[in-house]
Order: sequence, then structure tokens, then C-alpha cells
Amino acid sequence: MKYPARVKIIDVGPRDGLQNEKQPVPAAVKIELVQRLQDAGLKEIEVTSYVSPKWVPQMADNAEVMAGIARKAGVLYSVLTPNLKGFEAALAGKPDEIVVFGAASEAFSQRNINCSIAESIERFAPVVQAALEAGIAVRGAMSCTVGCPYEGEIAPEKVGYLAGLMKNIGVQRVDVADTIGVGTPVKVQKALEATLAHFDLDQVSGHFHDTYGQALSNTLAALDLGVWNFQSSVAGLGGCPYAKGATGNVATEDVVYLLQGMGIETGIDLDKLIDAGQFISEHLGRPTQSRVAKALLTKRAG
Ligand code: HMG
Ligand code: MG
Repeated sequence: MKYPARVKIIDVGPRDGLQNEKQPVPAAVKIELVQRLQDAGLKEIEVTSYVSPKWVPQMADNAEVMAGIARKAGVLYSVLTPNLKGFEAALAGKPDEIVVFGAASEAFSQRNINCSIAESIERFAPVVQAALEAGIAVRGAMSCTVGCPYEGEIAPEKVGYLAGLMKNIGVQRVDVADTIGVGTPVKVQKALEATLAHFDLDQVSGHFHDTYGQALSNTLAALDLGVWNFQSSVAGLGGCPYAKGATGNVATEDVVYLLQGMGIETGIDLDKLIDAGQFISEHLGRPTQSRVAKALLTKRAG
């Protein structure tokens, strides 16, 4: 087995991690979280989303957060934009990359973004075009690539179909997301392989929620295919408001520990990352979801 020599992680904690919090998290806390993540060596951070504040109130401070972050050279800051309205609002914050987000499941598409898969592609197309013309990179997130909270198991063909549509409208790279964390390694590999029929290996990333505790196994299964881009949330924050019961993304600390143990380079300082996780967990008033952070904090205390 030959694994990649290095891995790039996008920490999606400030966006995916916090979007579902019921209590408002002040913009200043989000800004400090971004700062701590970049100080820990993260090279890509998903900062916020430009979605309806009625649908996702926690992200209503998107402009304030983007204006408040102190950018570090070499770090890519991305934001979610579901339509032209969101894209136009996002421009003022000067994102390096925008993310259009669709689903392999019709029912999830309807619940999450209030339109069918076909309609979503029609909405994304002008967003992608405008972003590329403005010199902004474009990523596409694909939800429910293994399972859907409304439709159950999702066939790899549906993932391939969505990946092809994303490719056709000019999306440059895609995330294969297990939104509700039901995936197991072989199923996740099938979803990735269906995507790899349309995108190069360098353009495909794994985005695994850890609801069923499978996310690290799924990460290893993705590495096995040569996938070297992953998304995770510091402290294992998160969940999607339109995927009830789904917990956070796999914790960035846990992924970094796994990779370090395998001799795979990440450029991330695990101690500083754990501090970032403690910062946000203390603010939220609950313990970190990262097993690695828990273990290493216990060791530190001893
Ligand atoms: P809609 O109601 O169909 O939109 O929502 P509309 O065009 O009919 O407009 C209705 C109202 O929304 C109007 O306001 C618009 O101005 C406003 P009103 O006249 O009623 O006052 N509006 C907006 N406001 C701010 N920003 C916008 C925007 N667009 C319309 N961009 C929409 C469509 C997509 C906006 C809505 O469904 C929405 O905001 N959904 C939220 C989806 C979301 O954020 N989900 C979580 C992120 S995805 C995720 O977590 C999955 C991921 O992590 C991968 C994985 O794990 O699967 C990425
Ligand atoms: Mg997600």
C-alpha cells in the first residue's frame, strides 16, 4: 500500500462546525478561531457561508467575520455561496475560493437548499462563471454521497452524476461528503471512485462526519485511493441543520494524529491545534469531541 507523502486539510470548523450552534457565537470568537487555526499551520480554512440568515442564523455575521480576519500569506480562505445573491454578498469579503454546495440525494437538496439537483446546478452555473471571471477559485461540495437522512443509502451512480454536472459547469474541485457519517470504507471508496471518473485525484477531497465513528476508517480508505485532501473540524465541531442527529466532522486533531503516526506530512502543529480546539470548546461550554485532544490534554495535565 502506498499512501500520499503529504495531506492538505481544510478546517471547516468556523463554518460547518459552528453553523448549527443554537446560541449565537460572537464574530470575535469566530475570528479568533480562524487566527488560532492559521497559527497552528492550517493552510485552508472554510470561514463562513453567505446563506439565508433565516435558514442558518449562526452565519448571519459572515461579512463581519470575513472583514475581521487577519489574513496570513499562503492561507486560502473559502466561503459557501449557494446562489448569485450569496456570491455578490461574499465579494466584499474577498474570499480566495467560493463553494457551491449540492447533494447526490434529491430529498436532501430540497431540504438543504430548497431546490432540485437540476435546479441547483442552474443556480450554481452563473455563480461559478462569475467567480472564475473574478479570479476566485471554485469548489463544489457534494452532500449525501453515501447516505441521506431522507432517502437512505445513496448509489455511487448518483454521486457520479452530480460530479459530472459539477464538472460541466466549471467547478474546479469537489468534496465527497458523508453528511450524516453513515459511511464505511468500501462504500466511501465507491463514492470517491464515482467522483474520480470526472475529477483528477488532486481535485477530490474527503469530508467525513463522524456520527457512527467511522470517519477515521473512511479517511484511511480514501488515503488508500491516493486522495490527499480532507476536510475536518477542530474539536470535532459541527453538524448540518438539515441533517438531524448528524454530529460533527471528524476532528482535525484526530486526523492529524493519524497522519503523523503514518509519517504523512501535514504542516500542522498538533499542540497548537489542540489549544485552538480548547479555545472554542471552552467558549461553547462543552468538552472537545476529539479523542486525541482528550488523551493529550490528560497527558499534559499529568
Ligand atoms: P430560498 O428560500 O429558496 O431562496 O432559499 P429565494 O431565492 O426564494 O429567497 C428567499 C429569501 O431568502 C429572500 O429573502 C432572499 O433575499 C433570501 P426575503 O425576501 O424572504 O427576505 N436569500 C438570501 N439571503 C442571504 N443570502 C443568500 C440568499 N439567497 C436568498 N445567499 C437558500 C435558498 C439556498 C438561500 C436557502 O435554502 C438557504 O440559505 N439554505 C441554507 C443552506 C445551508 O447553509 N446549509 C448548511 C450548509 S451545507 C452543509 O453543511 C453540507 C456540507 O458541510 C457538506 C456535507 O457535510 O454534506 C457543505
Ligand atoms: Mg458537512
